[in-house]
Amino acid sequence: MPYSYATHLECSATGERHEVAVLQGLSRAGKPLLVRYDLAALRRNVARADIEARPLNLWRWRELLPVPDAAHEVSLGEVETPLIELRNSERPAGFAPPTVKDEGRLPTGSFKARGLALAVSMASVFGVRRVAIPTNGNAGAAMAAYAARAGMEAFCFCPDDTPEINLSEIALQGARVWRVNGLINDCARLVGLGKERFGWFDMSTLKEPYRIEGKKTMGLELAAQSRWQLPDVVFYPTGGGTGLIGMWKAWSELAALGWIEGPLPRLVAVQSTGCAPIVRAFEAGAESATPWQNAHTIASGIRVPAAIGDFLILRALRETRGFALAVEDAAIERARTEVAGKDGLLLSPEGAATYAAYLAAARDGRIRPSDRVILFNCASGLKYPMPPVTARMDLARPFADG
Ligand SMILES: Cc1ncc(COP(=O)(O)O)c(C=O)c1O
Repeated sequence: MPYSYATHLECSATGERHEVAVLQGLSRAGKPLLVRYDLAALRRNVARADIEARPLNLWRWRELLPVPDAAHEVSLGEVETPLIELRNSERPAGFAPPTVKDEGRLPTGSFKARGLALAVSMASVFGVRRVAIPTNGNAGAAMAAYAARAGMEAFCFCPDDTPEINLSEIALQGARVWRVNGLINDCARLVGLGKERFGWFDMSTLKEPYRIEGKKTMGLELAAQSRWQLPDVVFYPTGGGTGLIGMWKAWSELAALGWIEGPLPRLVAVQSTGCAPIVRAFEAGAESATPWQNAHTIASGIRVPAAIGDFLILRALRETRGFALAVEDAAIERARTEVAGKDGLLLSPEGAATYAAYLAAARDGRIRPSDRVILFNCASGLKYPMPPVTARMDLARPFADG
């Protein structure tokens, strides 16, 4: 029985086939490549129940991942992330509580572990020694961790205002890291400039085909956790969009396997009003997005002015009858405070953006009271700045201020 059922890679724009047994970057047309599997053979040989009988981790999906053998799986303990209902946080009257899929429990505290575990594993299959990445923080931290584990050298380029903790965790995990006086797309240019000269493999999102396969496991996992009855609506904080495209791909594969039935969940791309290229393109009916000028938001992970997979994100939204929605930073902060205080769940600003978007969509009728809703919190809230605490108590005068 094959370990992986990957057969080839396909250009997402032209459909041209590329070899699976070769380290790949972009397609010959300069577009993202997607890994394809022999789903007919997999359907004959493997049952849903076989997967369910395995330990609850990312590697239980190995037939639907490209890593060719167990020896090349670079792992730091990629657990299945929990689903947590927001029972106490505010919601419009009559609405069922939304559920958070909390990706903050993964190694390095974010969902980037899924993609980078796969990308570093595949890099190790092909003998890569040096990897480089433009990163808003979490992806760099995950790459640094997995590269350290695999004995590779790692180089990370971060926008100036990347959260301090991300820079420190990247450095402590053995990578070289620089602050760059620009945004993520400027950092990507630096990786492009240096890759020939320094012999780096470019780990930029969707510029190599393996990270999306790791992110795909969010969709696979959600299917298994929902007993193969997918929810109605999924709100996803969208930067490069790898997770959103990955889940859409996951569900298409599961549908082809006959493991799920019925319409796919409506996908909702959540962005900030300070950087909303996908929302603008969606509303204009465009097939791709134009770069956003002067991008700014406290949700650094979704501050992506131009996404190479924009046309795939837009296609996924339209094909699932979903939509795109931008929320203000002030609403993100209010949402974070609400969910932390009422439900005890410390969301990342990006995760809080999905809750703010859920409230907005519930109020304007874009989702229905009976909809089963999933909100993605893609990183632990502990990785981001929090309001300072100023209260003090003097032991010599306890409770003196009442
Ligand atoms: C916490 C968090 N949420 C969401 C995103 C956006 O993810 P994607 O690139 O899959 O759109 C990122 C990316 O950096 C992130 O760190």
